Amino acid sequence: AEKQGFRHFMLKEIHEQPRVISDTLTGRVRMEEADVDLDGLQLPVDTIARITILACGTSWHAGLAGKYMIEQLARIPVEVDLASEFRYRDPILGPGDLVVAVSQSGETLDTMEAIREAKKKGAQVLAISNVVESSIPRLADHAFYTHAGPEIGVASTKAFTTQLVAMTLFAIYLGRRTGTLARERARELLAELAQLPGKMRDVVESGAQLQVLARRYGHASGFLFLGRGAQYPIALEGALKLKEISYIHAEGYAAGEMKHGPIALIDEHLPVVVLAPRGPHYEKVVSNLAEVRARQGKVLAVATKGDADIGGHADDVILVPDSALELQPILTVLPLQLLSYYVADFKGTDIDQPRNLAKSVTVE
Ligand code: G6P
Repeated sequence: AEKQGFRHFMLKEIHEQPRVISDTLTGRVRMEEADVDLDGLQLPVDTIARITILACGTSWHAGLAGKYMIEQLARIPVEVDLASEFRYRDPILGPGDLVVAVSQSGETLDTMEAIREAKKKGAQVLAISNVVESSIPRLADHAFYTHAGPEIGVASTKAFTTQLVAMTLFAIYLGRRTGTLARERARELLAELAQLPGKMRDVVESGAQLQVLARRYGHASGFLFLGRGAQYPIALEGALKLKEISYIHAEGYAAGEMKHGPIALIDEHLPVVVLAPRGPHYEKVVSNLAEVRARQGKVLAVATKGDADIGGHADDVILVPDSALELQPILTVLPLQLLSYYVADFKGTDIDQPRNLAKSVTVE
């Protein structure tokens, strides 16, 4: 009953995404002022010289996507680090630094310790979490929340897309205060955000196609995921999802780096998932795709509805609705979640409780 007719919590949570994205937006959009209200957040934005985003796992991927958005919209330099690396490298931080800790559970030990280190060095800390009053927001100076609701499946899905939305809202918040994001552009983005749940619904309902592809490619012993720009973190997340629940080795790579290593792996047995939505990187990504095919690799392209050319460059095409460039990752990650779900289902693994993994890691 708890799974509401879905076979696994993960599939239920994939389908909940349009609703929880609406919940994460509710009450936060100020269309009149072309601004957002993040639970009353009041940051001294003009004193922030640099932002460092700290997280682990899937939350780290949301942080990487956040870097693209914040730098683009607010023109503040952003670094993204793994909490477990940051805390041990005697990081250089001071009062001009804002640390943003991203954690679904709010209880990840490495992220908590990284915050303690940052605070000791005089940085301000903002937490973005899904659990109100959890340890990480309590430790931070400021906090606002994603509204994904409880996530039961160990492989994170709805928490990730709500983190991407939170990052977008935060980038708009900053951009409106640094003055780099014009009122009109902010309005357009906010209007596009409002349309997102409907577009997401279209994608999560395309499970049947992903089920077919999962059967076609689920025998492979390895997968490669490629993306450029803000699609690069999505390539990393797609590979992580597949590893976590299907136990198939997968690598996510920046598409431009393929020639520096992964290209050696390509043969007729390697499925390569290429994120190729409409945008400034499109031509370059298509040329990467051609390089894969020239070496007999099998290409599954994720592209934008209406792209009539991509079919000629790929073995299989998965289409997602068009949207503002900044919001595309929230749509392109959905077929990757479904693909890994159906590959794992096909292999018969324990999808909601994959071996060796924990939902929240509160030890070192
Ligand atoms: C564990 C979970 C991942 C999660 C990571 C960070 O490894 O299995 O799904 O991304 O911890 O968790 P957090 O709660 O800090 O986002």
